[in-house]
Amino acid sequence: MKQLLITIDGPAGSGKTTVSRLLAEKLSYIYVDTGALYRGVALAVQKSGISSGSDDELGKLCKTLDLKFVQSKTKTCLILDGNDISHLIRTPEISMLASAISARPVVREYLLKIQRDMGKKKGTVFEGRDMGTIVFPDADFKFFLDACPEIRALRRYNELKDKNTQTLEEIEKDIRLRDKNDSTRKIAPLKPAEQAVIINSTSISAAQVVSQMMSFIEKK
Ligand code: C5P
Repeated sequence: MKQLLITIDGPAGSGKTTVSRLLAEKLSYIYVDTGALYRGVALAVQKSGISSGSDDELGKLCKTLDLKFVQSKTKTCLILDGNDISHLIRTPEISMLASAISARPVVREYLLKIQRDMGKKKGTVFEGRDMGTIVFPDADFKFFLDACPEIRALRRYNELKDKNTQTLEEIEKDIRLRDKNDSTRKIAPLKPAEQAVIINSTSISAAQVVSQMMSFIEKK
């Protein structure tokens, strides 16, 4: 089969990461979590102490960053300026900061190039918020994954288990706030691409979502 570029967009906790990983595994593709890139920039902003609202300062910072994924046989690491930051980007503070800086055009421009460069290699599943609408409008297959906020919060809560620093209620509040920020921003808002297949995963498992996706892919 021809090597495809597949996009999966959707809100926080909709199961994109699990589903993208499973789908990539099934097809022997590479999987790219673009949310991690926004989290990487957020970490750099936090460390530098600059204002997340200043395009000027964000632009200058982005110019100095060296942000990339490094893939080994067992895992994918996010590397910022030579250091593995994968374990530092999953905090509630970084989630909210990533959502704030993702609304800034300079940050999106900086990450657009990185993502499109990675997309030159077909046989990839990209997950994010604007993969099908902005970054890869010509993708071979576009999916939009959704689920109700309560279930998304519960999944996040269960995922983090003993690493949780937030209650279930706090996680749901943050998710709802990020949904609002991500879907109402002027630039690249979270929404399904016109040709996207929309799948609601509220009452089905990740494996069932993947099998629905596979049947769309195999039909074409
Ligand atoms: O997917 P994840 O929750 O890790 O993404 C963190 C934040 O990065 C999102 O809330 C969103 O604001 C931003 N993001 C984005 N566009 C993407 C991926 C993530 O704006 N393609």
